[in-house]
Amino acid sequence: MSYNIAIDGPAGAGKSTIAKKIAKKKGMIYVDTGSMYRAMALYLIRRGIKPEEAEQIGEECEHADITIRHESGEQVVYLNGENVNPYLRTEEVGNMASRSSVNPKVRQKMVCIQKKLAATADVVMDGRDIGTCVLPDADVKIYLTASSTVRAKRRFEELTAKGETPDFDSIKADIIERDERDMKREISPLRQADDAVLVDTSELSIEEVVEKILEITEEKR
Ligand code: DC
Repeated sequence: MSYNIAIDGPAGAGKSTIAKKIAKKKGMIYVDTGSMYRAMALYLIRRGIKPEEAEQIGEECEHADITIRHESGEQVVYLNGENVNPYLRTEEVGNMASRSSVNPKVRQKMVCIQKKLAATADVVMDGRDIGTCVLPDADVKIYLTASSTVRAKRRFEELTAKGETPDFDSIKADIIERDERDMKREISPLRQADDAVLVDTSELSIEEVVEKILEITEEKR
């Protein structure tokens, strides 16, 4: 039986940074499910499909073959055989992913791939519905969150460090809008699983959050 840790939470809570570190410390594989939804979104954008075209999304998603591999410790997402990692982190793709991920066919396809991955390897998997839907029997479930102001600040600093000149208010508005969409969608909305432990990262450093989660995993053993 594989050992699985599920980490859910809103955009900007620090899920991927934290999950990567936990995976490394515990010798587990990190699976970023958001990247898989982003790869699907990229496919749809390239096909010229609009976020509101639900029927086309349902049909077209069948033709997107999304697989992940781990190369030199990094997760690489392949879309129909192409490494699409360089194209996934844009605002355009993120916004499309938030919209196209409400589609039941898209979700069904992604959840199926994710369940298979977790059944065959010890994974730290992060996303929105991991503890509630993908891995309801995960050994440890964490719900990672932070205030929208803190999350917007992190994003602002990330973009500034890249040499961009972002607008704080529009980043914050974008985060709030995405939260709304992720939490209010009909199928597997973002919510804390009943047996998940809530960790608020607003006032904690990365190392403090990692420490806290490692303690929780020890307590669950
Ligand atoms: O974590 P992220 O920003 O890379 O995710 C992009 C979008 O994908 C997010 O707005 C919602 C969706 N998503 C999802 O619906 N379920 C997941 N398990 C992961 C991401």
